[in-house]
Amino acid sequence: MKILITAGPTREPLDPVRFLSNRSSGRMGYALAKAFALRKDHVLLISGPTTLPIPDHVDYIPVESAQEMYDEVAHHLNQMDVAIFCAAVADYTPATIADQKIKKSEDTITITLKKTPDILGSARSLMNFGGYLVGFAAETENLEANARRKLETKLCDMIIANDVSQVVIGFDSHENEVLIVEAAENTALPRDSKEHLARHIAEIIMLRSRQKNDPAARS
Ligand code: C5P
Repeated sequence: MKILITAGPTREPLDPVRFLSNRSSGRMGYALAKAFALRKDHVLLISGPTTLPIPDHVDYIPVESAQEMYDEVAHHLNQMDVAIFCAAVADYTPATIADQKIKKSEDTITITLKKTPDILGSARSLMNFGGYLVGFAAETENLEANARRKLETKLCDMIIANDVSQVVIGFDSHENEVLIVEAAENTALPRDSKEHLARHIAEIIMLRSRQKNDPAARS
């Protein structure tokens, strides 16, 4: 099976030396890439900047901004059986990028931001992806309801939700605890290392994507 995984944060440039970003470490996406590679699946990892080693036996495309990640996903998505969007993509990017380093002058300055392209939200509608589609949802409240709304509006097969209001799990930590939300059911995976969780999640995704291709396999 061919699996595309997005991971890590994006960097949205303000000027030649500055950017807006977030605290994503990329660990969950890299752990998933490793888990699928160990299963001998063919993995393409499209990643924003992280400090992590690239997992063995994984094709790797580094990107910086949300727009670059969008372009690489759009280019490769339709050769894939499964796509897992794990990246913490910036929702907004500076409306203009200064050619030169912005000088310190006034006490306050105003930066205008514009929306980035929604990569996951474009997978079905603009990129016509017909494979098994998985999104992540980092929430601070109403975990299941928000994940289920994303499942429906972004036409996903599965949303993997985690509660980022808990500091020991989620963003920039080694552990996670997730709720897998699908149309027909929810599955809670208790707190564990991102490595162990990734192996468990990889098994569930492969089972479900096979069942999607061959509905008789569900019974
Ligand atoms: O709507 P929200 O940003 O919470 O959705 C999170 C999911 O959407 C994640 O799977 C993330 O990788 C993906 N996403 C994306 N492009 C964006 C924003 C989020 O692919 N611009």
